[in-house]
This record gives sequence, structure tokens and C-alpha cells, in this order.
Amino acid sequence: MSASLLLASNRGPVSFADDGSVRRGGGGLVSAISHADAPAGSVWVCAALSDADRRASRTTGGRLAEGLAPTGVRMLDIDPVTFDRAYNAVANSMLWFVSHLLYATPSSPAFGERSRREWEAYTEYDDAFAAALAEDAAPGAAVLVQDYHLSLTPRQLRQRRPDLRISHFSHTPWAPPEYFRLLPDVIAHDLLTGVLGADAVGFNSARWADAFARCCVDLLGATYDGGSVTHEGRVTRVDVHPLGVDGRELVARATEDDVTSKLPTIRELVGDRQLLLRIDRTELSKNIVRGLEAYRELLRRWPEHRERVVHLAFAYPSRHDLPEYREYTGAVQRVAREVNEEFATPGWVPVHLEVKDDYPRSLAAMRLADVLVVNPLRDGMNLVAKEGPVLSDNGVGLVLSREAGAADDLGADALLVNPYDVSQTAEAMHAALLMDRTERSARCERLATAATAFPPSKWLADQLACLAP
Ligand code: F6P
Repeated sequence: MSASLLLASNRGPVSFADDGSVRRGGGGLVSAISHADAPAGSVWVCAALSDADRRASRTTGGRLAEGLAPTGVRMLDIDPVTFDRAYNAVANSMLWFVSHLLYATPSSPAFGERSRREWEAYTEYDDAFAAALAEDAAPGAAVLVQDYHLSLTPRQLRQRRPDLRISHFSHTPWAPPEYFRLLPDVIAHDLLTGVLGADAVGFNSARWADAFARCCVDLLGATYDGGSVTHEGRVTRVDVHPLGVDGRELVARATEDDVTSKLPTIRELVGDRQLLLRIDRTELSKNIVRGLEAYRELLRRWPEHRERVVHLAFAYPSRHDLPEYREYTGAVQRVAREVNEEFATPGWVPVHLEVKDDYPRSLAAMRLADVLVVNPLRDGMNLVAKEGPVLSDNGVGLVLSREAGAADDLGADALLVNPYDVSQTAEAMHAALLMDRTERSARCERLATAATAFPPSKWLADQLACLAP
């Protein structure tokens, strides 16, 4: 195979169930690339994530049947122990925690011998991607490497194939140097030089791009001129490509039967009350617990909202192999229970927490919401914040964390909050619930315009333009 455009990400466009049936891969990255209209003949290289994926990968020699995804798919069958160390221990623990500033530093992290072993596995895993990409790329092909799982791949690929045009895009934030440097020196160095193996590096926000460049300057002694980083004679451009949503496609999806059939149940649940909605993976950075605490404070401080609002909180399972995530799910459930114990009255349940992933139901709820709460501690972008206003039937009010990349695009018309400030979040919920309908609709319209300004097709085209010879 010899492709002129290749994409690489840990999670691919499809996954397999135990009975061999195919499902669409989940998450923001996958949905962005799936909607980005990659040209025919492109190849998407991804990892087998489960035993069922591995079986499918083995029976097809890793090259999945045509037509399963918008591109050709090469699924890498990486040894499960190597994969577990690379994905769970390094990508989702070490790198995710660093980029989202999640460590409780008095006790963690502590990098010992085990971390070194895990790092070796991560290096091997990234190199498996580099080898596959090198094998499948036509001379001079463009290769778009995605995310923190594959930070070393650009450099490893360049060593194998110096003729290729390589980019790396981070869907997450990047940590500022004073936080990034808590990583062991060798790891910090490898990460930065790994990404700098690309010709162009992209981020969702100027804040993350700037943090990356400052890490290169402080930790590597590189130079940065505001547009590119130079290290050991190599120049890598640093760009901002904020990812948005394809409004027309999203609205069309939200009028399909599986979505509209969910509307009556949600309407019945809410009745003539206002609907306060949140939709997240149950992810530490999403800050669901403080969001529920803010709702509790809202009901305590402004009793007029009692029985006048229903909070639907969709918290879908994520990364359950990690103990921190299992504990966090427990904490979310506990606070939701406490709020209901304190305020429920006959005929009114203040919080409905749903943990079973149901995409059509999420779309239906976004159509009906009066207020959408998106309060992550830190987030590369956060597409829910963009999808909500686009899908809203009634003009939704948006309470948004200033620490989400989406705040750059939506900040003018959202109610911005410091995600650590529970009282301020409660005040923003209060203001959004009381906001005059005309103002809410006008803001929502402007939010939808901003949310659709950078659809995935533009996002992809801009990255390719940055790689143009
Ligand atoms: O935020 C970056 C991102 O890659 C998202 O696209 C995705 O939702 C998540 O991180 C990865 O999640 P997972 O570990 O489930 O693949």
C-alpha cells in the first residue's frame, strides 16, 4: 500500500464487539477525523484496543475491509502488555495527568523503576506506529499524527522516512514548563524532541501552543520566534487549529428517528421545569463532582429554583482500568445521591445521573436543554460546549469553564467560570436560569456561529496547508 495521506491515532474509527460486529470508535478525536472528509485512498493507522479488535486485526492481516470507515484502516495488533503500559500507565496516567494538571503533588507522582519500564513500552508502541506509517506512505506523503499517545512517533518516523511531511496535533492542553518539568528529565526531553520531529505542530488553543513552545525553550534550550521552534537546526512550525463542529451534519443527525424518539421521555421527565444539562465522559478533568456541588449550592442559596429545575447529568464510563477513574465514578454517584436526599420532594427528583452511554439520547437532551454546564478543570477544546448551542431548539445558555480551549471561541457569549470556584459556578447557573429568553437565544445564535466556524474539514485542510512543500 502506498498512500499520500495517512492519519495515526491510538483509537481508530471502528472497534469490534466480541461477536465480531463493528461499532464506530468514540471520542472527540475520532469524530473530528471521521467528519473531516479525508481524500479517497487515505489510510488511518490505529491500535487494536481489545481482544475482539486483536482478533479482527489478525484475521485481516491488520488491514480492515474497505468501507468500514471513511478511510482505509490499518489496525496494529500490539502486544497486550506493551499496549497496557503505553496506554494506561503512560498515556492516560502520566501524560494525561501532566497536560491537565491533575496530580495531587504532595503524594504523586513518584517516578521509579516501574515508570522507566512503562516508558520503554510507550517508546516501543509509538515506534510500532512509526514502522507501519513508514511502510504505507508514498514518497513525500503527508502524515498527520494525533495526540499524546503518539508523542514520539513524529521523530521515530522521520528517522525511518526523512522524505515524509509530518504533523502532530494535540487534542489536549499542554502543560506550562513549571509543571511539565515534574516529569523525569529524560522523559520530558524525549517527549519534546519526539513532537519536534514533526514539520508542523498543532494545538486547539494559543494557550496550549504557547505552553509547548515555552517548554521547548526552557527545557531544551530551543528558540521560539512566535511562529516556529528551532532546535538543533531543525525548524518546526507551531500553529493553532481550533476544532469546531459541522453544523449542518450535526443538526441532520439530531433529527434522525433514534434521536427524535428520545425527545418525549426527556420532555416528560422535565415537565414544565427548566433543564440543566451536562454531558461528559466520567473523566477526572471534566470536574463533574464540583459541577454537582455547584448545583447543590444553587438549590441552597436560591430556593426559588427548587422544583423549578431538573439537572440531567450524563456521565459516561471512561478508562475503567484505572483505579482513579473507578473512584471518581463513585464520587460522582455519591454527590448526586446526596443532592437528591437533601432536596427531593414528591414528584421532583433534582438530579438524574445517567451512566450508560447513549449518543442519540445525548443529542436529544442537547436539543431540549435550557442551560448547558461544561466546567472542566482543563480541556484541549471540549466539543460538547460547541455542539450544545448548535443543536439547541430553545436557545441554550452556556456555563463554561475558562480553562477549556472552547472558551477562546465561545467566551464572549458563554458565562465563563473558574472551574475550581464552586460558588461562582453556582452563580453562573443561577444567572443562566434567570436569563431573559430573548437574550439567551441571541447569545445562543452567536455561540452556534462561533462553534461552526472551524468545521473538521477546515481543521484538516488547514493542517495540510501547513505541511505544503
Ligand atoms: O481529548 C483528547 C482525546 O483523544 C479525545 O479525543 C478522546 O475523547 C480522549 O482523549 C481519548 O479517550 P480514550 O482514552 O477513550 O481513547
